[in-house]
Amino acid sequence: MTNISILGLGAMGQALAARFVQQGHTVTVWNRTPGKAAALAAQGAREVTSAAQAIAASDVTVMCVLDYAASDSVINGAASALSGRALVNLTNGTPAQARAAAERTAGLGAAYLDGGIMATPPMIGGEHALILYSGSKATFDAHAGALEGLGVATYLGADAGLASLHDLALLSGMYGLFAGFFHASALVESEGIRVGAFLKLLGPWMTAMMGELPGYAEKIDSGNHGVNVVSNLGMQAASLTNILTATSEQGVATDLLAPMLDLFRKRLGAGLGDEDISGVFELIRRKRVAGG
Ligand SMILES: NC(=O)c1ccc[n+]([C@@H]2O[C@H](COP(=O)([O-])OP(=O)(O)OC[C@H]3O[C@@H](n4cnc5c(N)ncnc54)[C@H](OP(=O)(O)O)[C@@H]3O)[C@@H](O)[C@H]2O)c1
Repeated sequence: MTNISILGLGAMGQALAARFVQQGHTVTVWNRTPGKAAALAAQGAREVTSAAQAIAASDVTVMCVLDYAASDSVINGAASALSGRALVNLTNGTPAQARAAAERTAGLGAAYLDGGIMATPPMIGGEHALILYSGSKATFDAHAGALEGLGVATYLGADAGLASLHDLALLSGMYGLFAGFFHASALVESEGIRVGAFLKLLGPWMTAMMGELPGYAEKIDSGNHGVNVVSNLGMQAASLTNILTATSEQGVATDLLAPMLDLFRKRLGAGLGDEDISGVFELIRRKRVAGG
């Protein structure tokens, strides 16, 4: 059991604090706007009136506020209290923001661990909650027991930006899935078919298509998109053209899928119709600098 402070009592900060209290830690909480700690105080948490007081009260401080503008302002407001302390920042942001926060807190003499929460507040402490961490390994190791109490704790490396990079990449996969679902739903709904009924077909189909990913990953990692004799890019471009034509004919907007056909056509235009569709990755990847 350890002393833990929480900065930020929004929906997520409340869930994190409640879980730490439930696990028997000594919990100190602070929120910019007072009055949000009543339920936590009733469970045994102590509310303080400044972030600096909260940081001073504990071995480790977990911050979870709206964004990095908010977290930067909390760090700046409590700068003098951070020396010699450990800060775990679970605020959602970009890798660059995480790296800047790591640099700023290092300058203040604090250890910095960044994190990305792959869970909603009610999931905290449950078996499906995943929290990605990067930055100070010493902080992760010292508090792994408490952090594991929030959900599966995965440490990704010393670069503070790695947790955010993986967090945003996982969310990108999720939004791509949702985009396909919304488009498919709009197509069937255009004929009055209930999406709930259609899902009985779509769900297993999407699950089956997950089986394609390891092969694509291998091609992307090797940079060799091969000659695909089963379902090459040319065939898939024709199929996606049919999808978008039918979409327009059904009076449905093409916004979510049209950009993918543009990429397919660019590869076709380059004479790569025999390849796998994983070749579109080459059009969107970060461009390598010569000699880099
Ligand atoms: N909720 C989710 O499902 C979920 C899931 C994964 C990750 N996250 C991430 O967790 C973080 C917190 O989300 P949330 O759901 O708790 O949001 P929220 O309910 O909107 O709470 C926002 C928190 O940020 C604080 N805040 C905002 N601006 C501030 C500032 N300038 N200085 C100090 N504190 C400030 C708020 O304080 P006041 O009360 O004073 O306004 C409040 O405590 C976000 O980065 C979010 O992306 C959330």
